[in-house]
Formats: sequence, C-alpha cells, structure tokens
Amino acid sequence: MSTFDHEAFWSARYRDAGDDYLFGTAPNRFLEDHASHFAAGMNVLSIADGEGRNAVWMAEQGCAVTATEISPVALEKAARLARTRQVEVSLILADVLNWTWPVESFDAVVGIFIQFVGPAERDRLIAGMKNATKPGGLVLLHGYTPEQLQHGTGGPSAVENLYTGMLLENYFHDWEIIRLKAHESWIEEGNAHKGRSALIDLIA
Ligand SMILES: C[S@@+](CC[C@H](N)C(=O)[O-])C[C@H]1O[C@@H](n2cnc3c(N)ncnc32)[C@H](O)[C@@H]1O
Repeated sequence: MSTFDHEAFWSARYRDAGDDYLFGTAPNRFLEDHASHFAAGMNVLSIADGEGRNAVWMAEQGCAVTATEISPVALEKAARLARTRQVEVSLILADVLNWTWPVESFDAVVGIFIQFVGPAERDRLIAGMKNATKPGGLVLLHGYTPEQLQHGTGGPSAVENLYTGMLLENYFHDWEIIRLKAHESWIEEGNAHKGRSALIDLIA
C-alpha cells in the first residue's frame, strides 16, 4: 500500500491557489458533453470531487449529489462554490481508500481525474465504485492515457496510474459499456489542466 500523503499534497496545492480554483469552476467537458445521462432526481456520487466544479454542475442538473474528497481545503472551496451557485451538495471528507463504501445506493457514480492510485489501490477504488452503483445505474470515468506523458499538460507522471482502453474494458467486462473512447482533445480547466491532452472516457 502507498504511504504517499495524498491529503497533504492536495491540500497544499489547493491552498497555494488562494481564492482561485485550481481546476476552474466550469464542469469537466466530458461530463458536460454527456449531460443527457443526468436527470433531475438522480442520486449521484462523485469520487474525489476536488473543489466542487463537477458536483455543483450535477446539482444544477437537478441531481442529489454526494461528493467525497480527502482535502478539507478543497471541500471548503466546494462549499463556497455551492453557496455562490445556490445549490445543495452533500460534501463528505473521506479517504476513499479507507472508506466504508455505500452499496447499491447511487444511480450514477462519477470519477473525473481520480488517477491518484496505482494498480492495487485502483482495483479497490473501481470495485467500490461499481458496488456503490444501483443495478442498472451508471459509472462515468474520465482520465488520461499513457500518451499524456508526452503532452505534459496535466495529470500524474506515474504511467501505471494512467488508463488504457484495455484496462478499463477489463474492469467493466461484466457491465454493458456504453462508451469507451480514447481521444486527443484540447482542455482548459483552471491552471492545472491546460492544453492538448490524451484522454479516455468510459460510461458503463
Ligand atoms: C486531479 S484532482 C481532480 C479533482 C476533481 N475530480 C476534478 O476533476 O476537479 C484529484 C483529487 O483527488 C483527491 N484525492 C486524492 N487522494 C484521495 C483519496 N484517497 N480519497 C479522496 N480523494 C482523494 C485530491 O484531493 C484531488 O482533489
């Protein structure tokens, strides 16, 4: 198991950004492009949601959103964003690697750029996400592929943390895969994710 202090690392980054939002306040493009999967009244869980840009946007679609995050600094910013945009989000301070995951509780479970784990911990993370989803519900996952290392426009430098199509296909081999697509796209999400990026989307 990794001994890396995720909380200290991320809280320092969020604190250094001051009043700014490291990843901006607009939702992630992949989520916005697939807005049709979010309907009013859905119960949604967002994993490692950061400063709230995605949770707040899903709440604006009428979803009841629960967001987990390890950094209290990020959660304070998320609470501020929710107040400004006048939506309610249930914010939970949690280390998702040491968390009692809810079971079959959510219509959708969302993970946007949650590549802070290597293979062993990722197995547990994805299993938790799948188990937390109600039968017939959705997992939406979005991150970088190994090609991103050539771009240097965001994301982790550990290649084993990045996703390939085959990796995600294996994780969801027992689910119906609605979308699995690797693509190169320009993204601009605050100062942290900026420029041409090698991305991958999964909706299962
Ligand atoms: C690249 S950021 C993405 C944040 C957010 N999903 C977004 O797209 O704006 C990764 C996030 O994972 C959080 N994180 C890292 N390790 C975590 C853990 N063990 N449990 C919960 N959150 C964690 C970090 O604090 C950070 O907010």
